[in-house]
Amino acid sequence: MKVDRYHKLRLANHVLHPETLMLGYGYDPLLSEGAVKPPVFLTSTFVFRSAEEGRDFFDYTAGRREPPQGEGRGLVYSRFNHPNSEIVEDRLAAYEQAESCILFSSGMSAIATTILTFTRPGDVILHSQPLYGGTETLVSRTMTAYGVGAVGFADGVDEPIMREAAETAMAKGRVSVIMIETPSNPLNTMVDIRLVSRIADDMAKRQKHRPIIVCDNTLLGPVFQRPLPFGADVSVYSLTKYVGGHSDLIAGAAMGTEKLMKPIKQLRGAIGTQLDSHSSWMIGRSLETLALRMERGNSNARVVAEFLRDHPRVEKVHYLPFLSADAPQRRVFEAQCTGAGSTFSFDIKGGIAEAFACLNKLEIVKLAVSLGGTESLACHPGSTTHSGVPAALRARIGVSDATIRLSIGIEHADDLVADLAQALVA
Ligand SMILES: Cc1ncc(COP(=O)(O)O)c(C=O)c1O
Repeated sequence: MKVDRYHKLRLANHVLHPETLMLGYGYDPLLSEGAVKPPVFLTSTFVFRSAEEGRDFFDYTAGRREPPQGEGRGLVYSRFNHPNSEIVEDRLAAYEQAESCILFSSGMSAIATTILTFTRPGDVILHSQPLYGGTETLVSRTMTAYGVGAVGFADGVDEPIMREAAETAMAKGRVSVIMIETPSNPLNTMVDIRLVSRIADDMAKRQKHRPIIVCDNTLLGPVFQRPLPFGADVSVYSLTKYVGGHSDLIAGAAMGTEKLMKPIKQLRGAIGTQLDSHSSWMIGRSLETLALRMERGNSNARVVAEFLRDHPRVEKVHYLPFLSADAPQRRVFEAQCTGAGSTFSFDIKGGIAEAFACLNKLEIVKLAVSLGGTESLACHPGSTTHSGVPAALRARIGVSDATIRLSIGIEHADDLVADLAQALVA
């Protein structure tokens, strides 16, 4: 049951900002005893007012019929939908300026459910490289068991390389999905979404089917990057990272048009990849401070990156604002993103021994995988997150034994610099 007052994106002639919407949009306190904050709806099932209502809600949930104009689909069973996920879905969609958002039990279940919705045996997935390791395994190994092939392109701004990969993919079968991740992790390489969209248009003419472009927006979105206006069809997230933002939950999301989200939502209900009410509530709480946290991480990251760039023991800092003025990656970064975010890598002078010595000496920055939390984290991608990536591909994408990845948090920047300074003396 939606009340319009809490679904307003504007006041008279004034468009409301996401920072404001994250505090109230999509929740009517009067439907929950006046509680200013939404309660956690710990229930697996919902009562119907009548048998007819039960029938109608099932029809709407299963997509057999649409509800009357202005009415919701009704609540049936928490594997299909529940109030805590619906509030957060509405808020995230408003942030990303998407028509619709669906929450998932993890970033991987968002990506897997989306890919399963749009691929059939014999199809091929065209994808950028590198992808997050779990996504890479899903598209290039797991899906092959279901007769779905994969072809990657290692440069997301080089049109001839991308078109060649598209040709190779179309020669193998119908390309139903283009899966991209931008910026990629750990070296922040960019994929030009507008170029991918043009290539998808050309492929549509050749194979009579336009591939669905799925963009992993985990690293910068929704504050510093929104892929949909650039031509992506679905924006997917590991909400575990910046959106959750406190390293205390696992969740994911997919966003796009109502039309594309409908079949994904139906598959989510069928295979049960929905997010539970407690984690949904926690995401809602995190959304209230999302812009504050990401902006602070962003400004801290610049201070740390500048310190590292000038340090004699550092070979190179892979930080987007440091790209040279004439680099094609820089053109894409400036067109597509409004900030560099706070996850980036640097190469220490030397090799694995020097990298490990530096990591072992850190006192404030914690040694852990994952990223996007309030606390700063560091890891060695070559031996952890990217250890499963074949050595040749790792070398091609530039992840060496000397590479250290940082996820900069919201601590005082001076303390982070002091910690790195003492660790680099090791
Ligand atoms: C860019 C990116 N996408 C997707 C995922 C998978 O997310 P989750 O761990 O929430 O399943 C991760 C996890 O590290 C990631 O970094």
